[in-house]
Amino acid sequence: MKHLGRRFDAYQSFLLGCKTYWSGTLYPQVRQECDHDSNERSLESIDEASRESVTFRYYAYLERHLQRMKYSGRYGIVPMHEPFRSELEKRLNQPLPDGLLTLEPNFVPPAYFTEIDIHQHPGGTCGDTLAGVVYERGSRSMWPGGSKDRGLHPRFNAVVKSNCEPNRILDMGCGFGKSTQPFTFDFPAAAVTGIDVSEPCLRLAAATAFEDQTRNIQFQQSCAEETPFSRESFDLTTSTMLLHEMPPKAIRAMIQESFRLLEPGGYTIHLDYSADEDPFNRFVHYGHSYRNNEPYMRPLNEMDLSGAFCNAGFEDIVIEPFEEAPNALSAENNAWRFPWVVVKARKPVN
Ligand SMILES: C[S@@+](CC[C@H](N)C(=O)[O-])C[C@H]1O[C@@H](n2cnc3c(N)ncnc32)[C@H](O)[C@@H]1O
Repeated sequence: MKHLGRRFDAYQSFLLGCKTYWSGTLYPQVRQECDHDSNERSLESIDEASRESVTFRYYAYLERHLQRMKYSGRYGIVPMHEPFRSELEKRLNQPLPDGLLTLEPNFVPPAYFTEIDIHQHPGGTCGDTLAGVVYERGSRSMWPGGSKDRGLHPRFNAVVKSNCEPNRILDMGCGFGKSTQPFTFDFPAAAVTGIDVSEPCLRLAAATAFEDQTRNIQFQQSCAEETPFSRESFDLTTSTMLLHEMPPKAIRAMIQESFRLLEPGGYTIHLDYSADEDPFNRFVHYGHSYRNNEPYMRPLNEMDLSGAFCNAGFEDIVIEPFEEAPNALSAENNAWRFPWVVVKARKPVN
C-alpha cells in the first residue's frame, strides 16, 4: 500500500477521531434530545424534535462533512494520490496471468450508479483509473473501529459456513477484492469469482490477488443483474454492501439472476443494511442515506426484500441482524452503527 506521508496520516487520523466523537458522544446525545417516549412516537415526531436540537444539527453537519473532508480538500484521499498517479497506474496495468481478470471493452456501468458520487466519493468508483485505490484507502476508515476491525468479512464467512460449504462462489459487487479474498481463505477448495461494474476496482482486485499469489480466484467485469455465466454455474451467490447501492428494480433483477446462476439447493447470502421498525433507528438510517449520498439505502429498507426472493423462486428466506464486531449488538453499545443484516435464501432442490 502506498504511504502518503505523515501529514496525510495525521489529518485522516484526526477525521477518524472526530468520527469516533460523533458516533460515541454526539449520537447518544441526539437520541436523548430527539427521541421522547410517547404514544405518538414516529419518524415524523422525531424529525420534528430534531429541528429544535442544536446537537442534531452539529451531528448532521459532521456526518456529511467529515466524509467529504476524508475524500476531498488539501489532505483528502483523492488529491493526495494524484502525485503518484503514473506509478499507481503502472501497478494497475501490470501483465496478469490469463483468466485472472476479464474486462469488457464496451462495458457501460448502469446510469443509476454512475450519476451519483456514491458515499461522497468524487466521481464514484467508476469515475477515474485510481478510483479503486481511493476506495481501498477510504474503506480503512469507513466507520469508527472499522479501521482496526479487519474481521468483518471473515465474520460474514462464518455465517456462510454455518449454512453451506460452497465449491463455486460468485461474489457480486466485489469492489477491490476485500470481500472476495477471504472466501479463498475460508473455503480453500472453492473456485471464487468476483464481479463488479468498476474497472478501476477490478484492476486493483486482480493486481492484489496476483501479488498475494492467491489461488482459485478470478475477476470479471459485469453487472450483478445480468452476468455472462451459464445457468447453474455456482452453488453460492453472495454480496457484501452491494444491495444498498442498487435501486429496487436492479435488486429484483439481481435476485432473479442469482436464481438462474445457482444449482438446485444452492444458497444466496448477502450482507447489507436494513433498519428495524424502531422509528429512531429509521430516522438515523434514512438521514445517513440522505447526508452521505447513498440514495438507495432507504428504498432498500422500504422494499419487500423477502417477497422479491420468494417471487424469484427461493425458499427458506431469512433476514437477521449481523454483529459486525465483538459486542456490537449488546445492549450496552449505545454508539452509532450501521444496521447490519444478513439476508439468506435457498434455491429449492427440485
Ligand atoms: C460498497 S462496495 C462493496 C465492495 C465489497 N463487496 C466489499 O465488501 O468491500 C459496492 C461495490 O458494488 C459495485 N456495484 C455497484 N452496483 C453494481 C452492480 N449493479 N453490479 C455489480 N457491482 C456493482 C461497486 O462498484 C462497488 O465496488
